[in-house]
Amino acid sequence: MDVMNVFLLFLLVPLRVRLVSANAKAAATPKLPVYGYDMVDVTLTANPGDLKGEKRVLVDGLATQGECDMMLDLAQVGAKPDIEGSHWYSEYEIFEGLEVLQAAQLAQQGAVPIDSAEKLLTLSDKARRFVLGYFGLPELYLTYTHLVCRTADANSTDDRTDLSHPVHADNCQLDLSDFSCPQVHPLYTPRHYSAVLFLNDGFKGGEFFFAHNKNFSAQSRVKPKCGRLVGFSSGEENLHGVQAVLSGRRCVIAMWYTMDRRYREESRQEARKLLQSLQKPLETKSEL
Ligand SMILES: *[C@@H]1O[C@H](CO)[C@@H](O)[C@H](O)[C@H]1NC(C)=O
Ligand SMILES: *[C@@H]1O[C@H](CO)[C@@H](O)[C@H](O)[C@H]1NC(C)=O
Repeated sequence: MDVMNVFLLFLLVPLRVRLVSANAKAAATPKLPVYGYDMVDVTLTANPGDLKGEKRVLVDGLATQGECDMMLDLAQVGAKPDIEGSHWYSEYEIFEGLEVLQAAQLAQQGAVPIDSAEKLLTLSDKARRFVLGYFGLPELYLTYTHLVCRTADANSTDDRTDLSHPVHADNCQLDLSDFSCPQVHPLYTPRHYSAVLFLNDGFKGGEFFFAHNKNFSAQSRVKPKCGRLVGFSSGEENLHGVQAVLSGRRCVIAMWYTMDRRYREESRQEARKLLQSLQKPLETKSEL
């Protein structure tokens, strides 16, 4: 054994002892179980048991307040009604959305900061990595990313009985006559997992809920707040909906994922390229 090895051993022994004692300390303090994937500042809020479904998870801390504010500002400028109309899901709510490429194009026009469009990409990718890790999947790709807001209209009342988003599954077409849920090609089947990153609270109503099959009553509910993420598999095992937004504005990043790379969201690449090209002129200038 040469001098260098002895020196390394000397260094390693105390380090190992320190690691072991740190682990023992962590084990002694009550800590939330870690399910497959650990991310700094992301804490488990409800597990499959709490949410009453095997492939469901709820965490907090996936986005900071600053990041939520960036996304809310981006939605304020860029989220627009669907071509189907502004009251797409409810007669009492305005539904507006923004896609990643649209966000990048707004940055190109100077309507929103480049950082905000970039943040929509990085936050949705962070959520993807969490879902991939938590559920222990071999691979997972975003297939669609939508920054959406639901705003109570002036005629919304507290005794409304409609939903902001009716009970549905994300990858099959629920048939109300027999409660079957056939996978209808080509729109639905490539979705394997879904997640919603909540961006705010301070509105009335708007809880996300998982629903029982057949009677559609709530099995478990999720109160939106900045940085909270609910993730779940996209099949009929996870029927879900959104309660009416009675007043105010509720914004989220809604995400659908696929394990089949053929269905990756192509526009993410385009958005990233566009954002990179927007950064370039500055670099070129500084070189002159
Ligand atoms: C509420 O007002 C909007 C227009 O702001 C209208 O489109 C919608 O039909 C109204 N809803 C009801 C139930 O009257
Ligand atoms: C709905 O169905 C579930 C499961 O079948 C049952 O446990 C629950 O009590 C039902 N809820 C209502 C409101 O009927």
